[in-house]
Amino acid sequence: MTRTGVWLIGARGNVGTMAIVGARAIATGHATTAGLVTERPPCTTLKLPGFDDLVFGGHDITTTGISSRAQLLAANGTPPSSTVEAVSDELERIDDRIRTGTITGSGSAIEALAEQSINGESLSSMVEQLRRTYRVFVEKHDLGRLVVVNVASTEQPLEQPARFDSRATIERAIETDDRTLPASAVYAYAALLDGHPYINFTPSTGASLGGLQELAIERNVPHMGRDGKTGETLVKSALAPLFAGRNLRVTSWSGHNILGNNDGRVLEDETHQAGKLESKGGVLEELLDGTFHNQVRIDYAPPLGDWKTAWDDIRFSGFLDTEMSMRFTWDGSDSALAAPLVLDLVRLIAHADEHGEGGPQPQLASFFKSPLGVDEHDLSRQFSMLERYVERHAEEHP
Ligand SMILES: NC(=O)c1ccc[n+]([C@@H]2O[C@H](COP(=O)([O-])OP(=O)(O)OC[C@H]3O[C@@H](n4cnc5c(N)ncnc54)[C@H](O)[C@@H]3O)[C@@H](O)[C@H]2O)c1
Repeated sequence: MTRTGVWLIGARGNVGTMAIVGARAIATGHATTAGLVTERPPCTTLKLPGFDDLVFGGHDITTTGISSRAQLLAANGTPPSSTVEAVSDELERIDDRIRTGTITGSGSAIEALAEQSINGESLSSMVEQLRRTYRVFVEKHDLGRLVVVNVASTEQPLEQPARFDSRATIERAIETDDRTLPASAVYAYAALLDGHPYINFTPSTGASLGGLQELAIERNVPHMGRDGKTGETLVKSALAPLFAGRNLRVTSWSGHNILGNNDGRVLEDETHQAGKLESKGGVLEELLDGTFHNQVRIDYAPPLGDWKTAWDDIRFSGFLDTEMSMRFTWDGSDSALAAPLVLDLVRLIAHADEHGEGGPQPQLASFFKSPLGVDEHDLSRQFSMLERYVERHAEEHP
């Protein structure tokens, strides 16, 4: 298998940094593969890029480098400092490949965060600059393919996304310098146009626009999103089918999340939080029957650093309308939950690209809160979709 480039938009953030540290630590024998779906059956039967074959680069708008970010994460509990130390030379090398990103149309919380950004004379010049950046990276590192992954801060939701439901409307927006088109869609457009597979790990717009989906089909490029399913929503999508299957009628599901990292800081802004709440709450609407009180809160609690806690309170009625309840608490390291999924997604979308499977990738639904083009939210059924995909490949390419 040829070397695979991994272009992380938001590479210097917690998820980006954890993914880079993890991949390099696994490649050099300093970490196990715990947490990676692609490292357990049935995915182990697929021919996927090795961790040593992944070459990282990316865009960011902060000047705090990957090494410093990794040390901050280590001081907060994970990864271990010894792991960061073991790959520190490589972190410096990768950081030299980070280019300044754009925040066009991203919203006020991201504008407040940006220490540097390119906003281009026009959107079309910016698209050309992004395409050139991707191309130079591929040529310089002699890459067989480049996977572009959005792990940048959550943008404000795009108003009336249906405005961009065809490739023509997107290209008109770029030509006329329509700055309502958000950065995530601009990065995605530049990637898809040149055939680079694209993953949107965030709730931001990315390639969800009808026009970008059309472009992906035309160019036969695989892409998938949105919003990695790593914590409270992961548990919800495993647990809700239990209530539905037993005809236990949920009357109320309240979830309260607190987190202390920069993601939490951005999500403190109500406009940026709106997209996240939609994908977190929507999962239950899809899985449970009838009407019920469905509430999700996200609060920023800085002392938690990169850790998050979710408390969920579920009220339900059973036989003879007997009222019962269940509560759970989820404590997780935000980035240690997300980073292995990013690596799994890179490997699996590279596989899809290798086999000429363009467009959205339903077999990857289990990785996302709002899987593009997939109505199935039951976690075990989503896992079955991945298993069937792997089985099909095992039969077709024994
Ligand atoms: N950690 C999880 O469990 C999880 C789960 C699902 C989704 N996500 C999403 O992943 C994203 C990253 O989370 P994080 O914890 O790493 O956040 P973070 O704030 O630590 O990192 C985000 C990085 O993106 C950079 N950035 C912001 N806008 C940019 C732009 N337009 N171009 C280039 N770089 C940009 C920031 O400078 C920062 O370095 C968020 O959108 C979050 O909602 C995270």
